[in-house]
Order: sequence, then C-alpha cells, then structure tokens
Amino acid sequence: MKKQFYVNGEWKTAEKFAELRSPHTKEVIAQIPQATREEVEQAIDVAHDTRAQMAELTAYERAAILEHLTQLFIDNREKAAKIISSEAGKPIKYALGEIDRTIETYKFAAEEAKRLTGEMIPMDAAKNGANRFGYTIEQPIGVIAAITPFNFPQNLVAHKVGPAIAAGNTIVLKPASQTPLSALFLAELIDQTALPKGAFNVVTGSGKTVGDALVEHDKVKMITFTGSPAVGIGIQKKAGLKKVALELGSNSGLIIDRNVDLSQIVPKCVMGAFSNQGQICISLQRTYVMDELFEEFIEQFASLTKKLVIGNPLEDTTDISAMINPKEQERAMSWVQEAVQNGAEIITGGTIENGVFMPTILSNVAPNLKVSCQEVFAPIVVVNRISSIEEGIDAINDSNYGLQAGIFTNDIQTAFKASKKLEVGGVMINDIPTYRIDQMPYGGVKESGTGKEGLKYAIHEMTETKLVVWNNQ
Ligand code: SIN
Repeated sequence: MKKQFYVNGEWKTAEKFAELRSPHTKEVIAQIPQATREEVEQAIDVAHDTRAQMAELTAYERAAILEHLTQLFIDNREKAAKIISSEAGKPIKYALGEIDRTIETYKFAAEEAKRLTGEMIPMDAAKNGANRFGYTIEQPIGVIAAITPFNFPQNLVAHKVGPAIAAGNTIVLKPASQTPLSALFLAELIDQTALPKGAFNVVTGSGKTVGDALVEHDKVKMITFTGSPAVGIGIQKKAGLKKVALELGSNSGLIIDRNVDLSQIVPKCVMGAFSNQGQICISLQRTYVMDELFEEFIEQFASLTKKLVIGNPLEDTTDISAMINPKEQERAMSWVQEAVQNGAEIITGGTIENGVFMPTILSNVAPNLKVSCQEVFAPIVVVNRISSIEEGIDAINDSNYGLQAGIFTNDIQTAFKASKKLEVGGVMINDIPTYRIDQMPYGGVKESGTGKEGLKYAIHEMTETKLVVWNNQ
C-alpha cells in the first residue's frame, strides 16, 4: 500500500518509494514515500511560517490539544499497538504497553503545558538591583526537528512531539526508516485535533536526504534526536548554533549485591535484558553479580530465559520475535562469535532459529569485547562475577556510555555509595537499569548524550528563557 507524508495538514505523494518489510514475515507491508531535499525544505518553511500562530496559542489551548490527542490514543489503543508490532516486530503485549505509556506521555505533556512558568529574580539582592523588578518568561524556540528511532516508534515520538506542542513550538518529524507507519498514524490523529495546520509535519525518507536537510537548515532552531551515538555525534558536529538534545545509546550495567532475594530480581533481569529483543537504550547489557550468588543467579536466569515464548509478534503470548532486520541480527551474531573466540561462555542462546535471535546469556566476558563495551542492541546479556561492590561500580564506569545503571542491595550505605559513584544519568536502587516512567528526567552522560527528556525537562529544553527587568525608580 502506497503511503503519503504529511505537511501543512495535507497528505503529499512522492516520486520515489521504498519497500517496508515486516521484521517477522519479511513481507512488504507498505511502500514508503522518499521525500526529496526540496520537499523537506518545504516542510521546514511551513513549520517556520506557523511559528507565530503556534506561539499565540494559550496554555489552555495547547493543553486541550494534547488532551484530545491523549483521548484519540485511548480510543485507538489496539490499532496503534498493531501498527508497532507489524512494522517493528515488537511483541503485541509490549506494543500495547508502549501505547499505554504514550497515553501517559501526552497526558503529562498536557499537564506540563499549564505549568510552564518562569521565575522571579530577587533583583535587590545585588547592590545595583534596588527598585527593580525582574522575572523570566519561557518562550517557544521555533521550528524543532525531531529524528526518532525504531524501537519505541510511538512513545519516543511522543517524548518529542508532546513537549514541543506544550511549549508552543512547531515540528518537522523524521521517523526511523523502519517505523514510519506509527508516525503517519500519529499524523492522522493530530489531524483530528485543533493543532494549527503546519505546526506538525511528518517527512519520511532516508537519513541522508531527510535527516541532513533538517540538521543543516537555518530555520530549524533545535534538533531532538534519539538513536545511535555515531549518528548523534554526527548531528552535533553539523548543528552549528542550533540547540541539540541527544538521547543516545548505552551498555547499561547492573550490580547484584550478596544477601538479596534472587527470586524477586531474576524475572526483572529477564525483562530488562530481553524485552523488545534487547533493542532498548537502557536494556540490561552488563550484569555484575557478587561471588556468593553468582552460580545461583546464572542458574535461575538461564532457566527463566529458556521459558520465553518465541514467535509471531502479533500473538498475545509471544515474548521474543525477530530483531528489526536480518543485517542487525548478523551484526549481533558476529559480536557473540567474537566474545566466544575470546573466552566467553554461552550460558544459553547464541543461535538464530526460524529468523529469531535467541535470547543469549554470556558469561566470563572480557570488558574490551564488543558485547560488553559497545551498545549491543540485541537480546544479549553479559553476566560476570565480582568480589566487591567497588569492582562492580568500576566495571560499570569503565564505559564510553552512561545512561542508567541499577543496583540490587539491602545495604543502605552501599546504595548511597553507588548512587554517588556511578557515572550515569540515572541510578535505579533495587531495580534494573531498564526502569523508566515517562515524567522522570531521562538522559545520559558521556557518549549517551546531552539534554534530558521527561516532559517537564524536555519542555525546558524546548524553550528560550527570556529575562524582563522593570526599573521602578
Ligand atoms: C530508549 O530506548 O531510549 C527508551 C527506553 C524507554 O523509553 O523505555
């Protein structure tokens, strides 16, 4: 089925199309328009021309639009989830979970739109500030280019579109090439709201043409990107003076202290390592277990992992399906092979069966191997033994990335020490690094990116703080 892209409230056709294939069946499920550079520039012009109209909307009106969008997602929950499952291969139970989160994300955006305040400045705290009255206002930044990944094609789009609307900006969205259908469905829903035409545009096509046109255009004032560190660093280099928010990858780590109840922890680890086939920036990738519990942890972890149901993403019982494409599966397999050739032990998995990369646990993995030191983005988890908490903290910090980390411990001092010493954007005490709810600040250090998402924080990134000072003398 030939799709169209969405600019200025209208559906546009293209000269060229690319086939979109289901990761599960490998069949063509849609023909996706490939916008030209000129078409992207037209979308940017439209978004630029709509800035004033968007900035004129009151907080009440922006919140009402977002509330309407929230309701439309509630009404279309199953349909939106099926689109995700079909194009991304995400098991339907997780796709439904993603839509539930999307609903919350837009709801939080609506609420935050009403709380967008500046602050009073105590002018007379300075010698030369007497008889002055100062305050800040948060103004929209203008055109925002949102470039989004395949792994949460609706909720990670919501994390950019929601705050952009809440702050009164206009948007040009470039969804991942593998998951354009969710973004086009969002356009169908937004089209039903009172958002001014031209304030939200979706342009589909290649990263090279569409992505570069967005990143390089002078009228784009901010780029918000979620994706790989390599692409993110490239965007940062080309962005010039544009504001840039980058949510990049990670090789998230977890420490398991002695004296914890593994029966509570292991199911969370299985979920953290393998949900969405491990294609999550905060997927559990490196697990450091204290000596005393190591053998028992491995046994329980492997046993539960083997129970995961492999198959068709559209079936209710499926836990694991195909990764996003065969090339990614092959890349991940070559990393497993490198690990094995260098002394790693496969506890379970390590094969591709019926097109599915089997959930894989590796042990005894040296830190310099790709499955440990790079972002694996596949259903692969490394479990290594440690003999002190310090060793675990050092191992997690020995990384180019720093998005989130976790620690299970019953020792309050250990928990405090870990929260202070771990070099990451978020520390989860007694939880996996994969834990996220949508209003919390989310963003990494080092090569995991810059800027924070989470509605309140993203809205702040998407506004300019203007100072107003009154001289009352
Ligand atoms: C991500 O992969 O960065 C997003 C993870 C999430 O929202 O749960």
